[in-house]
Amino acid sequence: MPFNLNQTRISRTDDILSLIQGNILSPYGRVYTRQIFFLLDEGQEGRRMLADLASFVTSAEKQQDLRRDAEKQQRLRRDASETSEPSNDVFANLLLSAAGYERLGLASLANSLSALDFAAAKDALTISDRDLFAQGLYRDGMTGQPSLRAFHDKVSDWQDKLQNRWHGLLWLTSDDPKTLVIAEGQAVARVGEANCHVEPGKLLFNAAGRTKEHFGYADGISQPLFFSDSIEAFTKWDPSAPLSLALLPDPGVPPGEGYGSFLVFRKLEQDVPQFEDMVSTIAKTIDAQSPQTHQERAGAMLVGRHKDGTPLVLDPAPQGTAANDFSNRDEDLEFTRCPGFSHVRRVNPRSDLILMKSFVRDSRIIRRGVPYGEQGGHPVGLLFAAFMSSIVGQFATLQRLWANSLELIRDQPGLDPVIGQVAPGTVIPALQFPKAWNGPKGDTVSVSLSQAVKMRGGEYFFAPSIPFLRRLGQTTSTGD
Ligand code: HEM
Repeated sequence: MPFNLNQTRISRTDDILSLIQGNILSPYGRVYTRQIFFLLDEGQEGRRMLADLASFVTSAEKQQDLRRDAEKQQRLRRDASETSEPSNDVFANLLLSAAGYERLGLASLANSLSALDFAAAKDALTISDRDLFAQGLYRDGMTGQPSLRAFHDKVSDWQDKLQNRWHGLLWLTSDDPKTLVIAEGQAVARVGEANCHVEPGKLLFNAAGRTKEHFGYADGISQPLFFSDSIEAFTKWDPSAPLSLALLPDPGVPPGEGYGSFLVFRKLEQDVPQFEDMVSTIAKTIDAQSPQTHQERAGAMLVGRHKDGTPLVLDPAPQGTAANDFSNRDEDLEFTRCPGFSHVRRVNPRSDLILMKSFVRDSRIIRRGVPYGEQGGHPVGLLFAAFMSSIVGQFATLQRLWANSLELIRDQPGLDPVIGQVAPGTVIPALQFPKAWNGPKGDTVSVSLSQAVKMRGGEYFFAPSIPFLRRLGQTTSTGD
C-alpha cells in the first residue's frame, strides 16, 4: 500500500522511515562534512561501485535510532555528572544525477521522476522537472534558450572540477573529524581517486550555539517540519509540512515500496568584505554622522533577520529570539520595518503574496547547506543543499521567480540582495531602505548594490530510496 504523502506531523517511528534516506525529514546536524562527487564505470560494474557506496548510507529509521541512543547516553552522563563526548558515528546520503542514472543504463528511471502536476502559476517556468533534471545545472547555465536558462548562472565562473557531469554524490558527515577522514578514504578507494572530487564543509556557530553562515547570520532557523514533536504552538506561521513537500515515489522500486527526494546542490562563494562594505554603505547613506547606530539594522535589511536570528519585521534590534512565528503582512504591511526584497522575505514571502498563500507553502524547500572555508579566510561560502519533491515547483520558483525578480512585490523593486542574479547587461535597480525602523512610509534612502554571492558550481541530484539501494547490491551479486 503506498504511503499517504499528504500526511503532516508524523511520528519518529513511522514505517516510511525505513524506506527513505536520513537527513531529508530532519537534519543530521553534524559538524564536519565531506561531499564526494564521483564518476561510475558503465553498467554492471558501475552498479557494483554504487552498491559499495550504498553501504555508507543512513536510513531515516537508523538516524532516529541513533538519535534516541544519543539522547539516552546524554541523560546517563548528565546523571553521572560527566561531560559528553562527541559521537563518532558517520551519517551519509547517496545521490545520483541524471548522468549517473544514464551511466548505469537506468535513464528511463530518471525520465520518470516527476512529482506534481503544476498549478497554472508554476507554468511561468515553462520547463518540467524531468527536463531540468535531465539537462543538469551546468547545461542549464550553458543553454542559449532564455526560457531554459533558469538562473543566469555564469558557467565561466564555475570551479573547473564542478564543470564535470558527476554521476553521483556521497555526502558523509560526522562530529568526529578523524572518523570522517577514515570513512572518506574508504569511500574514495571504492571508486578510485581519479574518479572523485571532494568538497569539505564545516558548521559554524554563533555565541548562542546556533549555526550561522559566513556573513555572520544565524542560519537554518525557518524550515518545513515533518515530525509532530518538533512543531511548537504558532499563530502566524505554520511550519509543519506534508511529506509530499520532500518525497516522491522512487521509480526504481514498485509503487509504495520506496520514496526519494531531489537534492539541489550549489556551491555559493561569499565575498564577506564586499558584503560588509554594502552594509556600511547603507548605514552611511542613512546617517553619515553616526553610521554605527545603523550598522546592525542595515545588514538585517539585506537578510531580513538580525545576526542572532531575530526577525526584522518583529524587532529593530537583536533580541536573541530566532522567532519564526510571523506572517510579514500582519507585522509590516507597508514595508517600513523590513524591505520586501530582503532575502528571507523573497525566498519565503509568507503572506506578502496574499493571493498565493498555498503556492508559497508548496514552494518551501528543506535546507541542509553547510559552510565551507575557514572563518575570516578566503575563499569561503555555502555548500547550499536543499531537498524537495519538485525542482521546478520549489528551488526554481524561489531562485528564478522570486529571488531573481526585479519587482516581485508592489513598490518594493530590486533583487534579493543575497542570492539574486540577473542576465548579463541587466541594470540592477537601486534599493530603497527605510531610514528608521517603522518610520513614515516612503521615508527611504536609495542605495545601489552589487551581489556578494557568486555561483561556483552545482548539480541536480536524486536521493533514491533505501530499497532501491539494497536491490543494487542484490542484483549485482546475482549477476542480474
Ligand atoms: C550564500 C548564500 C546564502 C546565504 C548567505 C543565505 C542566508 C540565509 C539566512 C541568514 C537565512 C535566515 C535564517 C533562516 O531562516 O534559516 C536564510 C533563510 C532562507 N534561505 Fe538563504 N541563504 C543563502 C542561499 C539561499 C538559496 C540559494 C536559497 C534558495 C534558492 C535560500 C533559501 C532560503 C530560505 C527558503 C530561507 C528561509 C526563509 C523563511 O522561511 O523565512 N537561501 N538564508
